[in-house]
Amino acid sequence: MLAAWYEKKGQARDVYNIGELENPEPMPNEVRVRIYASGVNHTDCKRRSGHGDKDWNYAHHFPDFPIIIPNNDGAGIIDKVGSDVSTFSVGDRVWVFNARYRRAFGTAAEFITIPATLISRLPDNTSFIEGACLGVPAMTAHRCLYSDGDIAGKNILVTGGAGNVGNYAVQLAKLGKANVITTVSSSEKAEKVLMADHIINYRDTDVFSEIMRITDGEGVDRIVDVNLGVHWEINYKILKENGTISSYSSMGDRNPSFPHYELMLGNANIRLVMIHCSPFEALQKAADDITNALKTNSLIHNVARLFALDKIHESNEAVESGEMIGNVIIQISDN
Ligand SMILES: NC(=O)c1ccc[n+]([C@@H]2O[C@H](COP(=O)([O-])OP(=O)(O)OC[C@H]3O[C@@H](n4cnc5c(N)ncnc54)[C@H](OP(=O)(O)O)[C@@H]3O)[C@@H](O)[C@H]2O)c1
Repeated sequence: MLAAWYEKKGQARDVYNIGELENPEPMPNEVRVRIYASGVNHTDCKRRSGHGDKDWNYAHHFPDFPIIIPNNDGAGIIDKVGSDVSTFSVGDRVWVFNARYRRAFGTAAEFITIPATLISRLPDNTSFIEGACLGVPAMTAHRCLYSDGDIAGKNILVTGGAGNVGNYAVQLAKLGKANVITTVSSSEKAEKVLMADHIINYRDTDVFSEIMRITDGEGVDRIVDVNLGVHWEINYKILKENGTISSYSSMGDRNPSFPHYELMLGNANIRLVMIHCSPFEALQKAADDITNALKTNSLIHNVARLFALDKIHESNEAVESGEMIGNVIIQISDN
């Protein structure tokens, strides 16, 4: 099969190999998926570059392997089924998630073998390219929203609503019947956020006052947050009693200190989300809810750029540039 892989970490243009590897064979609990599109996320680039390897003790989460085919997310068609798999059949269209979590071989190849628990059906109305957008971004959004109970009728703030996680968080929150406020850094990004009830450009608006105005002084029940350390200053003031801040990133301050008493006095819940090792039931529920939303055409996908497999280094550089508004996808096959 045609595949992209690396054997050492480093800059994308220095480490990628493109070529033929042997087709994988499914274990009894696995299926083999012919991949048509492969999603590129920050996590894939961080694993390839070795981001954090020296500073953080997380080798048990992301072990090294001699050969790594990158990318967690993808979509395609099952072409072989392991002997113990009864839930899927040859010919099923599926989207793939968590393919690189504690596994060497991800979706940047013509084939992947993967446990049947890490795929979900891709409805006919959803293209493979759209299916490859879902894994990390939509699953993380779902986990952040639902980790602490139902969201119907709740006020939810999604920071960075034009980001890939933010985009799905806004949409899944609306589908969950929440009142959704989101923040963005530009009018260009505001145009990409289609379903939020309120969009705040934090560059030209006092976010605290605006959220208190929108919520009639109540504040928000839940915050899906992309930059925990930097956003404390506002977030702890707008969080309602018994509220939750679900943090999936803290890029602007990697070692935040937080206002313990202000948060504790409101019985606040600080939920740190790592999608890859979220509980199995939560992942299954997220996958089911996302697939159900696809069936009713309820999710809008925002594809920023497509790349061919032999341009995988450029796809990584695009993600790492921070300039993409939307998903970066590698198209493995035209169909
Ligand atoms: N923990 C997990 O399980 C998990 C899962 C998925 C992603 N992540 C991490 O979450 C981050 C965002 O992922 P994504 O796929 O949504 O990325 P993305 O599509 O590039 O969006 C990132 C958004 O974050 C906002 N942002 C706020 N502060 C930022 C800063 N200091 N630097 C860059 N952007 C900033 C930007 O919005 P504005 O310009 O509007 O502020 C931007 O639109 C990445 O670090 C990723 O590795 C973690």
